[in-house]
Amino acid sequence: MFSMSEAAEPNPIVLLTEEQIAKRVQELADQLSTAYAGKEPLVIGILKGSWIFLADLVRKMGIPVVIDFMTVSSYGASTRSSGAVRFVLDLKSPVEGRDVLVVEDILDSGLTLKYIIDNLKLRKPRSLNIVALMDKPARRRVDIRADYVGFEVPDKFVVGYGVDFAERYRNLPYVGYIEEPGVKG
Ligand code: IMP
Ligand code: MG
Repeated sequence: MFSMSEAAEPNPIVLLTEEQIAKRVQELADQLSTAYAGKEPLVIGILKGSWIFLADLVRKMGIPVVIDFMTVSSYGASTRSSGAVRFVLDLKSPVEGRDVLVVEDILDSGLTLKYIIDNLKLRKPRSLNIVALMDKPARRRVDIRADYVGFEVPDKFVVGYGVDFAERYRNLPYVGYIEEPGVKG
């Protein structure tokens, strides 16, 4: 069992088991392999939260892909996204004419992804789709939808399988939730 270096951190309450995640990731990979057959999509992971999901997903996709990453950072340290986003690391790959698949960990207010998608559109991809491991539709503040969603999750602060609270819990093999923390990492 996972244990934190500081004993004060409680173990998260399990929301999605390793087995549930693996099964759903395989289903998404199958759908994507069909959708992108013959296309060699540019798969863009939004760091850091999507890294484990992306790693598992692309290994289950039976088609060639090109992988790149971008890192964005929200201004402020609140659990509520402000919508003001800064590019910390941009792509190396050109986007123009590519079939782009954006891989995100969790779609919450949608502000972060809306900003990223608006920016990517300016680079003239041939197509642009989103796959999100988790979706919290209850919290949406802007009109954005993922084309492929792993799981709809309740309005809880989730961690694990790449997703953090203050940079912790990312290496949990499952997704759990912790009681609403004061700050987001
Ligand atoms: P949004 O801009 O509100 O949609 O926030 C999206 C980003 O906030 C996600 O990519 C996550 O990195 C982070 N986030 C949103 N909800 C949670 C959560 O429940 N746990 C941990 N991080 C979260
Ligand atoms: Mg993220």
